[in-house]
Amino acid sequence: MSVNDRPDQFTETKHCFEKPAATFMMLFAEDGSFLSADDFGILGIGEAISDHAMWQRNGAILKHVFSDLELEMTEADGGVHLICGPETVTAQGSTDGVAGTFVLRQGPAQLPSDHLRHLQQHGWVCLPSILAPEIVTGLQRIACSDEFEGREPELRRQIVQDVALAKTAVEPLSLWLSRQYMKTHEIKLAHAPGVNVLTTDDGKRAVQGWHSDYPYHWGINAAGKVPTPSGETVMGVQRIVCVSEYTAEGGATAFKLGSHVHDRGPPENWGLARDTYRPGHRAENGLPYGGPDADIIEAPAGSVIIFDTRTWHRAGINRQKKGRAALLMDTTPAYIIPYSDTGPDYQALLESEVHEQLSGVEQRELRRFMVHRFLGPAGPQSVIGTNEILSETVPRE
Ligand SMILES: [Fe+2]
Repeated sequence: MSVNDRPDQFTETKHCFEKPAATFMMLFAEDGSFLSADDFGILGIGEAISDHAMWQRNGAILKHVFSDLELEMTEADGGVHLICGPETVTAQGSTDGVAGTFVLRQGPAQLPSDHLRHLQQHGWVCLPSILAPEIVTGLQRIACSDEFEGREPELRRQIVQDVALAKTAVEPLSLWLSRQYMKTHEIKLAHAPGVNVLTTDDGKRAVQGWHSDYPYHWGINAAGKVPTPSGETVMGVQRIVCVSEYTAEGGATAFKLGSHVHDRGPPENWGLARDTYRPGHRAENGLPYGGPDADIIEAPAGSVIIFDTRTWHRAGINRQKKGRAALLMDTTPAYIIPYSDTGPDYQALLESEVHEQLSGVEQRELRRFMVHRFLGPAGPQSVIGTNEILSETVPRE
């Protein structure tokens, strides 16, 4: 702490999440669809997550959450076969044909609808340890963090370095929650996804001040802010993936949870992002507000924090000796202009072997999610991207 820091610095209110002791299980067909059942136990296959795709495991038995249906698993090449009474379940989710092979994976600790209720009531939700361990390892390898600290970062686009990044971008529960919360199926990634590392604070450097994320950009020195409250219309949902464990000491993001309801930016006297990056600001004014009216979410690596982008927040201050990695993925409805061009990353993904490692559902979701198109009368045909020649020749305002 420096002499100009506030006396209550580093006393934010903590909200601690731990790795869940038990979770629901999910069953994936070969193309990445989910096996679900309706209230009467009739099986079906679909691309969207729902409560009805949740199963409880007891040894080799999977019990459906909303019906009396029970499936028995037997080992199969590359996954499991499922027995439903006297029949085996096919790849299409029926029981009249050749047995399909399914992959059993860990799901969330709570029902998707419970997570959605929390997000709708509070403007944020945490999905603790939602990512599989091998995905977390892949993200840490890209970040050169945690067990990969000291590794030389690759120069290639991150999205083609490891399939973990593309899989995380279309993690099904966070996508479903973002769609439900923004009340539209047509959502897009607002920028190319990138893993970042917050290094140890040196007591002097400029730090990020309080702000609201894209497209609102309140508290940020940027053009194109949302000029008025957007009310019921939600224009952005941010997903922060904790690539490293998130702790207050390690620089977990600070929030004012629930501040989205104010529908305006953070107060100036909290230290806005537009001010804190000014040279000399920290030496004169100390760190931005970090007292008990602010919140810090502590969660294990592999957790995802989802919030309404109006929520006031700022980067934490890393007081550990090691870096803290995170992946930020702001999503916006298709009617919002993207923050940056996602086209080159999507194209690089298409041309890389990583694309072949994705399931059919993941490939389709990434196409919907990263390809922005005009929404004019000709229909959503032309892909929007950077015009290099115009960017070079047209003078900046
Ligand atoms: Fe932010």
